[in-house]
Amino acid sequence: MSIIYGKAIANYLFQEEEKMTAQLSVAPAMVNPIGFSIENHELSARLQVVTLSEETVHRFNEQVAQWPVQALEYKPFLRYQVAHILDEITEKTLGASLNSIMTNRAQAAFLLKYDGQPDIEVGELRTEFDVKLSTAISHMIGMPNHDSMYGQYYARFTVRNVDNSDSYLRQAHRRMELHNDGTYVDERTDFVLMQKLAEENMQGGESLILHLDDWEELDKFYNHPMAKQDIVWGAPKSKNVDKKVVHPVFFEEDKQGLPHMLFIDQFAEPQNMAQGRYLFEMGESLEADPNYLAIPLPPGAMLVVQNHCWVHGRDKFVSHPDLMRELLRQRGHFTQ
Ligand SMILES: [Fe+2]
Repeated sequence: MSIIYGKAIANYLFQEEEKMTAQLSVAPAMVNPIGFSIENHELSARLQVVTLSEETVHRFNEQVAQWPVQALEYKPFLRYQVAHILDEITEKTLGASLNSIMTNRAQAAFLLKYDGQPDIEVGELRTEFDVKLSTAISHMIGMPNHDSMYGQYYARFTVRNVDNSDSYLRQAHRRMELHNDGTYVDERTDFVLMQKLAEENMQGGESLILHLDDWEELDKFYNHPMAKQDIVWGAPKSKNVDKKVVHPVFFEEDKQGLPHMLFIDQFAEPQNMAQGRYLFEMGESLEADPNYLAIPLPPGAMLVVQNHCWVHGRDKFVSHPDLMRELLRQRGHFTQ
């Protein structure tokens, strides 16, 4: 009898231990970084600056040199392999740290850059390295969605002094208004990764980001009768997305009950005066808000934000006939 009783207790303890392990694995990991550092950005404690050490960059470059970016495009599992390689080099502390940042609403954004140079000349080979690095980062936190504009899991595009496209994405001389990505697609867009690949003759053009909880008029718009009303969203031709989608601006709340938002001025299609006025005033309020951060990015560096609690945009550039900037973006959903 005592043996059976003992087994029951052992079973009970085992089950409790399993429950505790499960709880621990969903709690944000507090880990000591190995092969990189983390600190608050000088402009805001929300934004975390993650800097990979020279040795980490060197080892990563060596281990992924066997695959050109084309191999990553053709074989989706290689994208996870390069993420795994980088995580192993940091003894799994990088993935844990990035996921901890992204699931913490108070932060939910990081700027990732690297020390030193990966023994590659500036040019297409260096760009290949940078694409592999951002692929590793995006696959540590989730999975990029297919980018219909570019036809890959990422998009590369160039901003020049003149542009004749049909949206503000590539237009240099105006500020790109604060917005969320993924407003006009069906799939979730939990994160946006923006990486600078190259630039020449650039002045200005900082990435602009604003956390919803820093937006002074959030309550006014979140508690507005229109906040939960469906709006139609469509996209211009260049985006290669034919279908329109319907959702409210404040489409859901997070685990703490705080708002998640999906808004972009250019692609909302208001169907009546009330919707038009609500969207107009929201755009005006976001553009007038003083609490945004203007973040300069060195080539190779990337800014990653949780797309539903940060809005992003881009400041205008100073005109120059030979102005050039090449950017990469990945937009995806969390898988952790
Ligand atoms: Fe965007």
